[in-house]
Amino acid sequence: TKAKIGLIGLGTMGAALALNIAEKGFPIAVWNRTTEVTRRFHAQAGALADRVVPTESLAELVAAIAPPRAIVLMVPAGPAVDDQIAALAPLLGPEDLVIDAGNANFHDTDRRAAAGLPMRFLGMGVSGGEEGARHGPAIMGGGARADWDRIAPVMEAIAARAEDGTPCAAWMGEAGAGHFVKTVHNGIEYADMQMIAEVYGLMRDGLGMPAAAIGETFAAWNRGTLKSYLVEISAAVAAASDPLTGAPMLDVILDAAGQKGTGRWTAIEAQHLAAPIPVIEAAVAARNVSARLDERRAGEARFGAGPQALELALPELEAALIAGKILCYAQGFAMIEASGRAFGWRLDLPGIARVWRAGCIIRSAMLNDMASALAEDPSRNLVLAPFFAERLQAAIPALRRVVAQGVLHGHALPALGAGLGWFDLMRTGRGTANMIQAQRDFFGAHGFDRLDGQDNHHGPWAMAG
Ligand code: 6PG
Repeated sequence: TKAKIGLIGLGTMGAALALNIAEKGFPIAVWNRTTEVTRRFHAQAGALADRVVPTESLAELVAAIAPPRAIVLMVPAGPAVDDQIAALAPLLGPEDLVIDAGNANFHDTDRRAAAGLPMRFLGMGVSGGEEGARHGPAIMGGGARADWDRIAPVMEAIAARAEDGTPCAAWMGEAGAGHFVKTVHNGIEYADMQMIAEVYGLMRDGLGMPAAAIGETFAAWNRGTLKSYLVEISAAVAAASDPLTGAPMLDVILDAAGQKGTGRWTAIEAQHLAAPIPVIEAAVAARNVSARLDERRAGEARFGAGPQALELALPELEAALIAGKILCYAQGFAMIEASGRAFGWRLDLPGIARVWRAGCIIRSAMLNDMASALAEDPSRNLVLAPFFAERLQAAIPALRRVVAQGVLHGHALPALGAGLGWFDLMRTGRGTANMIQAQRDFFGAHGFDRLDGQDNHHGPWAMAG
C-alpha cells in the first residue's frame, strides 16, 4: 500500500511532525537531502517504523505516495523552499499538492501561490516547537480552501486539542494567510516573552529576589489568570540549576537574545498596514538592543547601572503583566483585522484565537476568553469588549504604578511601557495631533480639518508667509 502523505526535511521539526503523522495512523513516506539522516530516522522510529517509508530519491518519494499526492515541506524558510518546489515540479502532476510547513515569510507564500506552479500549493504555519510538532501543534493553513479540505483530516488528527476537544488546526484564508497569521503569532510570542522578561527584571533587580523565588512566583501566577505555556516555562527555567556550576541556570545565561526574523516581519508588516502594535515593536527592538552587548556595557560605564531597588508588591506585578498581555493581544488582533481588509482575506478572528488556545507557543487560558470576546464583535477592539474592559480597568492602576516605579528607578520596561502609552493614547478623545497637523500645514501647506467643520483648511501662517 502507498503512503497517504509525504514529508521532505527530517530536521528537528520535520522528524517530529513525521512521527506525529505516523502515530495518528497515516502511512508516511519521508525523504531528506542526506540519505543517512533518512535511514537513521527510520531506524529510530521504533513501533512507528512500519508506517514510515524511507526513500532515497525524490522520484522514489513521489512514487511511494498515493495520488493525488500531498507532500509536506519542512525545509528552512527562503530559497530552500523554492529549490525544493523546482526539484519536485517535473515529478508531480497538477493535482498533487505541496504544503510548505516552515516559517515562511507570507509574502513569499503569496508569490509562490501566484506564480502558477505546476502543482497545487498550500502555506501552513505550524507552532509549538519540537514538542508541539511531535504531540500536537497549532496549525494555520493558507491557500485554496479545497486543497486545505483535502489534507484537513490529517492536520486535524495531528493537531493539539483545545479543552473543549476542538482540533487547533484551521484554514485561515487564501495564499499567504496561514503564514501571515503564524507571523503575527510570533510577534505576539516575542511580546509575551519580553513582558515576562521585564517583570523578571523587576523581581531580580528591583526586589532582589533570587531565581528560585522568581520561579515560584511564576509558578503561582500560572495557576491564575496568567496560566499559559510561556509563564509555565518561565517558572521552570527560573527554577533550574546549571549542571556545571550549580548556580541558577538563568544567572549563567548571556543576556543577548537571538531571533530568526518572524517578530521583525510582524513589526514591518504592521507599519505597512498602519496598524499600531507598539508592544510587539518594543519587544523586537529590545531583542536588537540586547544583542549590542558592547554598546550596553559602554553605556553602563558612562551613565551608571540602570536598575535600582524599588518597592512593588508581587500582586501588582502580576496585574501589570495581565494588563500588558491584554493590550498586546488587542494590538495583535487589530493588526490581523487590518490585514484582512488590506489583503482581501476574510480572517476569522475568533477562529484564530481558538486555534491558538492549545499547541502553540502563545497558548494560554486567556485565549479562551479572547475567542468569546472576539466572537461577540470581531471588528471591535478587544479592549472595548466588556469582559476585557473590566479586566483592564482593574489591572491598569497596577500597570501604571509598575511602569512609573520602574522608570523612576531606572528599569527598562519598553514593552510594558509601550502598552501603557498606547492605552493612554487610545482612551484620549481629544489628543495632541492637532499640533502635528498645524506643523504639517505650516511647513508644507498640507492642510487640516477643523473641529467646528468650518471650511478653512489652512492656518494664518501660510498667508503671513
Ligand atoms: C513556534 C515558534 C517557532 C519559532 C521559534 C524561534 O510557534 O513554534 O514561533 O516557530 O521559530 O520560537 O523564533 P525566534 O528564533 O525568532 O525567537
